[in-house]
Amino acid sequence: MKRAAVLCVGNDCPGLNAAIRAIVVKSTELGIEVLGVRDGFEGLLKDNLDVLTKMNVSGILHRGGTILGTSLLIPETEEQIKSIQRKVEQYAITSLLILGGRLGARSALNLAKYGVPSVLIPATIDNDLAFSDFSIGFFTAVENVKNALDVLHSTAESHHRVMIVETMGRPGGWIATVGGLTGGADYVVSSAEPFEPMDLLKRIKVRYEGHKKFSIIVVESGVKLPEDFYENLNLSKDTPASQAIGTFVEKNFKELGVEWRYTNLGYLQRGGSPVAMDRLIATLMATRAVEMIKVAKVYHAVGMKGLTVTEAPYSETMLNIRAVEDYLKVLVKLFY
Ligand code: F6P
Repeated sequence: MKRAAVLCVGNDCPGLNAAIRAIVVKSTELGIEVLGVRDGFEGLLKDNLDVLTKMNVSGILHRGGTILGTSLLIPETEEQIKSIQRKVEQYAITSLLILGGRLGARSALNLAKYGVPSVLIPATIDNDLAFSDFSIGFFTAVENVKNALDVLHSTAESHHRVMIVETMGRPGGWIATVGGLTGGADYVVSSAEPFEPMDLLKRIKVRYEGHKKFSIIVVESGVKLPEDFYENLNLSKDTPASQAIGTFVEKNFKELGVEWRYTNLGYLQRGGSPVAMDRLIATLMATRAVEMIKVAKVYHAVGMKGLTVTEAPYSETMLNIRAVEDYLKVLVKLFY
């Protein structure tokens, strides 16, 4: 009998439970035993794992996070990789099923070099893995950003303020761009595109001189701004981008009496019940990964091309950053 071990690697995201559920249900159908590893590779090293049955995954589809827990520890050194290898042999694991983003991809590649088999399922709100159109969790994160922008619009408008809203998703820029587009942002500053301060000023000015005396500016956390931008504001380069942009707005619109406020959406983006699209892609990719293990097709990553599941052999290109498509970058500006 084949035996898969499922584990979450790196930051959590909504939809992991939908994937775990799908793995167990599909494996049961195909006669594969599933071990659920708690807290990622850290748990595997500490023998923190158990057989998962359909009973264990009943009622988890709608739950955010992961019932298994996760950890940021990944096998990087030879010693770490060999320790994982020993555990895989000890538990007679046919293949690992790795749910994760960039850290998951790095783990899978490192282990593959030592002949530790796995299948990678992309799961990160950042949606920044080059081999898949979508990763599990992205749609829920965008939904959360959109909902926050809906809420913030009314208070920004009432007080005629500039509202700076910080999102996650560096370095791809997906959450800020798509969250901004669907939530009606008046400007988006993200790593998807170089920041143009004068363009930002122009857009806000046009709004204030017209009938829109408020603006919502989405700023990706940790986005790199030009060095002279900080210098011109007499700010240290370590100032968070959202604060620097707020200071910039304040300096340039003082005479108009424009105030700015700041909201960091933080972990609100990463938690909560997965939206239907995340449940769907989690179910599609997870069931495919199990089918692959059944036929010994390991060292592959599953992914999405539209709503079609793809399979790609492991390669260093798995670590490439998925750039935001040009048409989305153009489209977001249409509504400024
Ligand atoms: O990987 C998802 C992510 O949300 C990134 O966008 C963000 O930079 C990071 O996690 C922050 O997570 P933490 O604060 O837990 O390290």
